[in-house]
Amino acid sequence: NKPTTAVKLVLLGEAAVGKSSLVLRFVSNDFQENKEPTIGAAFLTQRCTIGDKTIKFEIWDTAGQERFASLAPMYYRNAQAALVVYDITKPASFIKARHWVKELHEQASKDIIIALCGNKYDLISKNNEEGEEIESNRKVSIEEGQNLAEEENLLFFETSAKTAYNVNEVFMAIGNKIPSG
Ligand code: GTP
Ligand code: MG
Repeated sequence: NKPTTAVKLVLLGEAAVGKSSLVLRFVSNDFQENKEPTIGAAFLTQRCTIGDKTIKFEIWDTAGQERFASLAPMYYRNAQAALVVYDITKPASFIKARHWVKELHEQASKDIIIALCGNKYDLISKNNEEGEEIESNRKVSIEEGQNLAEEENLLFFETSAKTAYNVNEVFMAIGNKIPSG
């Protein structure tokens, strides 16, 4: 039996970007069109095997509504990993994501692993007859996300909780960066 590594992970991001939906997809492989806003925070766990290690994610899904903003430090203070989420159709949510990354670098554990997630990819992924992406609803370019990730040393994925696109990949990428033992 291989030892299990527990990883405390926090989700941060503006209200309604899809934090709880990403967790619901990862933990239950499910999606709800009208998910209610999180109040305070929610705690969920999920085990997964990556190569020869077993990781138990202990997930704190925080509330994005402004009235809960003062609670966030409680959840990120001793987190080993963070998922900072924005909505690729909402530029304000990308600005908020920048602020979260800055706050994490200033206030969280200095070796925290941060993944930046541009969520709701399904809303823009319409293809034309040539198979090219028609990005009618996209408001944050993939380059903006990539640039922020490069500047701040973050993992970066565009995701969809609705279609499951890249959701497991985000958690696997975080798990891969967790030192074992
Ligand atoms: P707070 O808890 O208030 O901070 O919001 P949240 O970030 O947890 O967002 P939540 O997961 O509750 O999702 C908000 C709304 O967006 C819900 O109606 C979801 O169904 C929808 N949603 C979430 N992810 C996606 C996605 O990938 N694609 C689409 N089309 N809708 C999504
Ligand atoms: Mg939520």
